[in-house]
Amino acid sequence: MKATLLALLTLLATATATPVKKAAIISKPTSFDLDAIPKQKVVSYGPRPYYLVEDLAKGELKTKLQKCGEKKAKPSKWVIGHRGGGTLQLPEHSLQSNLAGARMGAGVLECDVAFTSDLKLVCRHSHCDLHTTTNILTIPSLAAKCSTPFKPANGTTPAKANCCTSDITLAEYKTLCAKMDSFNASATTPEAYQAGVAPWRTTLYNQCGTLLTLAEHIQLTEKLGLEHSPELKTPSVKMPFNGWTQENYAQAFIDEYKQANVPAKRVWSQSFLYDDILYWLKKEPEYGRTALFLDSVGDTDMNAAVANLTQYKKDGVRLVAPPINYLLAEANGTIVPSAYANKANELGLGIVTWSLERSPPPEIAHNTTDYYYSTFSNWISRDADILTVLDVLAHQVKVKKIFSDWVATAAYFGDCFGLKG
Ligand SMILES: *[C@@H]1O[C@H](CO)[C@@H](O)[C@H](O)[C@H]1NC(C)=O
Ligand SMILES: *[C@@H]1O[C@H](CO)[C@@H](O)[C@H](O)[C@H]1NC(C)=O
Ligand SMILES: *[C@@H]1O[C@H](CO)[C@@H](O)[C@H](O)[C@H]1NC(C)=O
Ligand SMILES: *[C@@H]1O[C@H](CO)[C@@H](O)[C@H](O)[C@H]1NC(C)=O
Ligand SMILES: *[C@@H]1O[C@H](CO)[C@@H](O)[C@H](O)[C@H]1NC(C)=O
Repeated sequence: MKATLLALLTLLATATATPVKKAAIISKPTSFDLDAIPKQKVVSYGPRPYYLVEDLAKGELKTKLQKCGEKKAKPSKWVIGHRGGGTLQLPEHSLQSNLAGARMGAGVLECDVAFTSDLKLVCRHSHCDLHTTTNILTIPSLAAKCSTPFKPANGTTPAKANCCTSDITLAEYKTLCAKMDSFNASATTPEAYQAGVAPWRTTLYNQCGTLLTLAEHIQLTEKLGLEHSPELKTPSVKMPFNGWTQENYAQAFIDEYKQANVPAKRVWSQSFLYDDILYWLKKEPEYGRTALFLDSVGDTDMNAAVANLTQYKKDGVRLVAPPINYLLAEANGTIVPSAYANKANELGLGIVTWSLERSPPPEIAHNTTDYYYSTFSNWISRDADILTVLDVLAHQVKVKKIFSDWVATAAYFGDCFGLKG
């Protein structure tokens, strides 16, 4: 035994002493190659939905969901892959997050749309998040172009940076790597600033994710045979920008779908700007019919948000998309539809909501008053509560679709209950 151990140690020592060629660190993105992407014929939920079902207390919901455990997984148009749909664990809006979302059963894939300095449309959650979602700060020539270049933390003054898609050209954008959305405000170097990923997410897939343009996202989604949900992100720069008005931007966004021959009935466009929705209703009525108005009015005044619904209906808006917290409330010791949900249903407005699996695990979310659970946080304490929330949204609020950061959870649930989307 002892001799064997000694031999092993010697072997290990020799192995470490032998010079090995160091593998190159991945720092260049693989370019988007549509032909190299296989068609996805098989959907796979993975272990998470099963884990959540097991965590449920005994009862009708658990029994029903357990019974679906051996069903064949399939894509669900009820579920929109939020920022790609693998976002809980993979860099948002990357090719890899979209492929993960599709593999887990997303019937619809999201691209949030921002523009570069040369007015090309790209998939980013914000016009100005390149410093937290890509490696731009570690590429000196591009970091220098940021609206706010990196400033290290100094004592109690946090580190600063602000890098926008409109700071760089499309060609420059394509040299970046997608990373998990994070930053470390105490960092004194750009490399250290890139850390700070929440521990309940993961850095396991945080290599060099492939960034996408809107045109590539459309090709990808078409190849996978899925539907589209692009969001016209509110610009952080003053419009007009380089000669582009907000209306030019809203039109260019729709034109990409027309050029790719994607019919409006498979495109669920979104915007937080009510004027964008009105513009589409007027100038592109077919795309306007399927547009989602992303509601943020309730963040400052929920009563106004409810009151406004009547006007949206009058204006011809068909779908409203508020966050989950607008739709649920607590009453009678449980989670129930909110006044907002009841009013939207009364008016016959379709409801789409966001975003399931975006929050920290319920046990942590409960203590940190997470945004999405904020109106019913007393009823969120364990992982299975994600399914309880989904159950109320599906069966009482009757949402038409739901965005999810980990598609499998909602896809498993939606298929089990025959929700078509
Ligand atoms: C850090 O802050 C101190 C005090 O305000 C200042 O004197 C010093 O120059 C700062 N250092 C850097 C590197 O900015
Ligand atoms: C953030 O940066 C500070 C200063 O370099 C370091 O002490 C800390 O460990 C970092 N935190 C994370 C989560 O990386
Ligand atoms: C919704 O209500 C608020 C407060 O009454 C109002 O200021 C706002 O313009 C309304 N929003 C829309 C999009 O109609
Ligand atoms: C709470 O329960 C009472 C009695 O059953 C019912 O009248 C009331 O509508 C319930 N409230 C809500 C918000 O569901
Ligand atoms: C949340 O708060 C409760 C009581 O306030 C505490 O017992 C529990 O440990 C906390 N959980 C976490 C994950 O911080």
